[in-house]
Amino acid sequence: MRAPSRIASSSCSLATLTSDVLDRWLEAVLATPGLTALRDPAEARRVLLDDALAGLELVRRFEGSIVDVGSGGGTPGIPLAASLPEREVTLVEAVRRKAEFLERWTRELPNLHVVWGRAEEQRTETYGVAVAKALAHPPVAAEWCLPLVEEGGVVILWVGPSADAEAVSRVAERVAGELAESPAGFLVLRKTGPTPPGFPRRSGVAKKRPLA
Ligand SMILES: C[S@@+](CC[C@H](N)C(=O)[O-])C[C@H]1O[C@@H](n2cnc3c(N)ncnc32)[C@H](O)[C@@H]1O
Repeated sequence: MRAPSRIASSSCSLATLTSDVLDRWLEAVLATPGLTALRDPAEARRVLLDDALAGLELVRRFEGSIVDVGSGGGTPGIPLAASLPEREVTLVEAVRRKAEFLERWTRELPNLHVVWGRAEEQRTETYGVAVAKALAHPPVAAEWCLPLVEEGGVVILWVGPSADAEAVSRVAERVAGELAESPAGFLVLRKTGPTPPGFPRRSGVAKKRPLA
């Protein structure tokens, strides 16, 4: 009879710790200039935390380490790392000041790692899951994220209702990917083979000359 109560109390304290670190992270994002234009704490919680966690069950379906590309102030990567302590989560962020802010949270979340750099400059075929929220137009985000995942892995893009899934699908086909069944608010791309020669294109080229 004792074991279940120990399990219940340890999972309860894990939930408390998770919510404590996420509350402090959210406060720090709002208090740090240049990380978000949001000022209202309730709106920030909705956009930075609740929207990130809306993808939690989707991410959980796919195996492997996770990379959040263009993490900014840390979303969706920090909420995912706090909620999935058994998964390694890497935040890739191009702006040094933001990467320095993110680095602070690696002391709180042992499964969190931070890389200061651009997606196009990272080692390819490295992660099981790449996630991105508000990184760039979805076709550009797809081109940047697909090379980072191994064959069989997935890219999960948080998208708005006007996202052009057809354009993302055309880009995915160029970068060894295919559009998979995706719940509303997300586009899921499966990596079907190794990254083709010529990808990733040089830094900035995907934005200047989008594939679709
Ligand atoms: C609009 S912000 C979104 C941040 C966060 N994901 C969110 O939803 O609040 C886009 C972020 O992506 C970063 N970024 C843009 N292009 C990038 C690239 N090629 N590689 C890595 N980071 C990039 C920017 O520095 C910026 O912090």
